[in-house]
Amino acid sequence: MAFPHLYKQAVIRYIVLMKKVSLTGIKPTGDLHIGNYFGAIKPALELAKEYDARYFIADYHALNTMKNPAELNNTIRQVAACWLASGLDPEKVIFYRQSSIPEVFELTTMLMAFTSKGLMNRAHAYKAAVQENNEKGDDPDAGVNMGLFTYPVLMAADIIIFDSDVVPVGKDQVQHIEMAQDIAQSVNANYGQQVLKIPQAAVQENVAVVPGLDGRKMSKSYGNVIPLFAPEKTLQKTIMRIVTNSQSVEEPKNPDTCQIFQLYKLFSDNKEQDALAVRYRKGGMGWGEAKEELFRAVNRELAPIREKFNAIMADIPSLDKILEKGAERARPIAAATVKRFRKAAGID
Ligand code: ADP
Ligand code: TRP
Repeated sequence: MAFPHLYKQAVIRYIVLMKKVSLTGIKPTGDLHIGNYFGAIKPALELAKEYDARYFIADYHALNTMKNPAELNNTIRQVAACWLASGLDPEKVIFYRQSSIPEVFELTTMLMAFTSKGLMNRAHAYKAAVQENNEKGDDPDAGVNMGLFTYPVLMAADIIIFDSDVVPVGKDQVQHIEMAQDIAQSVNANYGQQVLKIPQAAVQENVAVVPGLDGRKMSKSYGNVIPLFAPEKTLQKTIMRIVTNSQSVEEPKNPDTCQIFQLYKLFSDNKEQDALAVRYRKGGMGWGEAKEELFRAVNRELAPIREKFNAIMADIPSLDKILEKGAERARPIAAATVKRFRKAAGID
């Protein structure tokens, strides 16, 4: 009986070919920095080699804080150009703007009905805003808009709508993924069936937190970033501003507790790292020299990306076309999830 055999083979082939889905988004809220590159972009592009990847620009998330239209418009293109310059292949990855997928907002509304207010009260970003207000003696909710308060629901919709298996993000985003899991589980529990897929966070442990110029987490809100696409001279000047202790040139130094070395590790191979560690421990190398070494390594990796980025930014119509094509591919997938949910909910 040839048929059952062929059938079995076809099923096996189907299962093997059904790749898992990796999805992530970047909020266009300012110049990208090397924390974003190592914490978000690089791991995501690595995953795109094995997974069906869906990567996007979270422009409606940015609207919560970005009220200047020209600035937001430009930042959206910068983030898109950054993905492409860093190696995203739009033929392979479905690459789009969140704002081009209206189904995401429909799903957000549906998810709202399954999201307790208490869950949102516990979100780190909202809590931090309230705490800051309390410390200043202001009204606890001063400056908090509903976009910020319900941020995790929109993010859950971003993720869930594409049946995502894994979400590559930095450590600070893990709570949001957990909330997406909670919300999706509430939906599935209510209908007694797997209406929505439960996503998992994918955090790269070795680059979980990239340190900034002052040793704290690199973040635009701390003003301690090394920008990704600054001109070479600015890049060098920024690296020279890294805060160090007052050890003299002669003193031996400990590479393991030094953020210059931590950053260097991101841009060099083992042999180079061993060589610099030896110079640290021997003494005779000042912080200025260590920073020069770091600058050389950073510039070696970023120069070609910077060049591509500038070329992409010089042709916005082509960039927009790439994003539109991505949205065309994304929408039917999003629509299928909404349809499934509406059917389960009795709104079909
Ligand atoms: P910022 O802290 O500068 O506002 P975002 O919150 O916009 O950065 O982060 C965008 C993405 O980059 C997220 O996935 C986040 O986890 C990652 N990321 C940001 N800063 C760092 C960092 N210092 N180390 C590792 N990943 C980071
Ligand atoms: N909240 C993420 C950040 O600040 C950006 C984001 C929006 C996102 N939607 C997402 C990340 C969905 C992963 C998946 O970095």
